[in-house]
Amino acid sequence: MALRNILKLGDPNLRQKCYEVTIFNEKLGTMLDDLIDTMFAADGVGLAAPQVGIPKRICVVCVDEKTIYELVNPVIVKTAGSQKGQEGCLSIPGEHGIVERPKTVWVEAMDRYGKPCKYKVSDLTAVAFCHEIDHLDGKLFIDKIISND
Ligand code: NI
Repeated sequence: MALRNILKLGDPNLRQKCYEVTIFNEKLGTMLDDLIDTMFAADGVGLAAPQVGIPKRICVVCVDEKTIYELVNPVIVKTAGSQKGQEGCLSIPGEHGIVERPKTVWVEAMDRYGKPCKYKVSDLTAVAFCHEIDHLDGKLFIDKIISND
């Protein structure tokens, strides 16, 4: 296990559009393990590779401390409904704000072995998926805050 340093707002890595993963090897598995360990160590519910300086389309999500989602090359293929809730980000400590997100999202991704996976998630998990997938395009929740209440 290795903890990675989480980059903070202002670091240009956070604003990059990340590259698709094309090679599924042991290194990718280690990267995913490190993202998961770093997310839990920082008490987060999600973490994306660019947040640790890796410009690749990889992120992890775990909102209930049980189900860990590993998303490689994730794409949101469909959304339904909407919800508004408070968000924060491990890269922007101390900052919070209300963001509008879909209530449910359908996502196609790959696992660490390159196997295609489909997910339908709602509520907090949908928020976390959207937030982390945004990171892969250099988008941050502070760009989308609709109020600070
Ligand atoms: Ni974030």
